Amino acid sequence: MTSAASPSTMKLLIATRNQGKIREMRDLFAGLPFDLAFPPDRFLERLPDEPDLERGTSFAENAVAKARYFAKRAGVPTLAEDSGLEVDALEGAPGVFSARWAQMHGAGAGDAANNAFLLERLAAVPDEGRTARYRCVVAYLETPLAKPQLVEATCEGRILREPRGTAGFGYDPLFFSTELGTTFGEAPLPAKHRVSHRGRAVRALVEVLVRRPK
Ligand code: IMP
Repeated sequence: MTSAASPSTMKLLIATRNQGKIREMRDLFAGLPFDLAFPPDRFLERLPDEPDLERGTSFAENAVAKARYFAKRAGVPTLAEDSGLEVDALEGAPGVFSARWAQMHGAGAGDAANNAFLLERLAAVPDEGRTARYRCVVAYLETPLAKPQLVEATCEGRILREPRGTAGFGYDPLFFSTELGTTFGEAPLPAKHRVSHRGRAVRALVEVLVRRPK
């Protein structure tokens, strides 16, 4: 748990095991009235069916599938997000396949392999054609069978020809944010949060949750 429970806080499971996302979620929720937990905090070990949760064709479908799965297992209100990078010159790829894109093409697994694969795929694309965006859909479920509350947000940028900075995770060293004028690999976390797809989506959802009638 990241904060002590008090009568005015709301229990919330964040359904992710991605270390980059965990770091960002902790930071985004810091100081807010939520008693945050991640799957290991509730002893939810990884089961063999977990990878199947991200086999949908849209961010929303995947986010809802993850939220339902973990809400059933944890028995507390659950938030899940699905996110990825959409590159215009690649017709929106890697999109929902962002996490395992290189692996799907036999080009290795993990962030470094994904970034190398992205550079290779864009090698012949001129600077003006390297536009891209991150997209994030956040799904919130009060109970496992509830209607999900969905929020979507994006963040515009372009893909550089070489990495810059070591902050963030995933494609961040190659993603030059139009609004920040730096890559997310160079940006301090508060700056990334200000403009990022995840920062925007989480803030919008929190707004809904704290304002709803109790
Ligand atoms: P998933 O939502 O767990 O399926 O995976 C999201 C994937 O999209 C990550 O593994 C990254 O490759 C990419 N991604 C999503 N958000 C970010 C971000 O904020 N920075 C860098 N990469 C991201």
